Amino acid sequence: MSGLNMSARLGVNIDHVATLRQARGEAYPSVKKAAEVSIDHGADQITIHLRGDRRHIQDYDVDAVHEVVKEKNSLLNFEIGATREMILKAKALKPDWVCLVPEKREERTTEGGLNLGDPKVVENLKIACEEIKESSPLTKISLFVESDQKTMDTVISIKQVIDAIEIHTGEYAIDVNKNHEIKHHLDQYLVAKKMIEGEGLGFHAGHGLTDVSLKYLADIDLFSEYNIGHWIIAQSVFDGLGTTVRKLKNIIQKNSSGE
Ligand code: PXP
Repeated sequence: MSGLNMSARLGVNIDHVATLRQARGEAYPSVKKAAEVSIDHGADQITIHLRGDRRHIQDYDVDAVHEVVKEKNSLLNFEIGATREMILKAKALKPDWVCLVPEKREERTTEGGLNLGDPKVVENLKIACEEIKESSPLTKISLFVESDQKTMDTVISIKQVIDAIEIHTGEYAIDVNKNHEIKHHLDQYLVAKKMIEGEGLGFHAGHGLTDVSLKYLADIDLFSEYNIGHWIIAQSVFDGLGTTVRKLKNIIQKNSSGE
């Protein structure tokens, strides 16, 4: 499973630029500029999460970023909770992708995948997907989920209304950061990948990834898309946003170790 994997996409999540701006209530740093620089340095799409509490991305950011991705022929991945408010937003916005995520007010960040063990959650998601697809047929939909077998079975049972899943890589990434064993994560991802891609669905990854944890996944061509935010913005303090995005894109393309 080696060789140049030209097809894997890098989604740059720029929520954390908005977090920095909101911390002081200023107009800087510019979320719009972060989208432009990311695309100019190799990002294949921009990911933004409009949360119900508007803690980082604001409604005006969504419109500004959507304009930038359209101008630059890139893609917008719009992350939302499956609430009435956000479904209406997605229907009006018609982004390239909608990623449905769980959302709790008290959490620091998205803490895990959707709870697909609850039939009510699954039914609500199904209705949300159908509603978005009906008013915006070109919008693709992914569900942010864990990678266990039961979750994969549930995802496959509603495959008609989705285009992809995004695997929550948070625990894997923490294990990499702590130098813990990661084989069990990779084994589970490989089983899930076979099931999901066998059904014709996209297999994406996101949450907590760094240059190191990304490289282990990219080296074995595990996912076709990686959505990464916090590490990119943190590393940009030292290296700049463009250099950091280019480094991750190089890791995905296996051009080098990313330098
Ligand atoms: N994908 C999803 C679904 C997320 O909720 C997040 C965090 O907003 C990310 C990717 C990016 O995670 P991180 O900022 O930890 O790289």
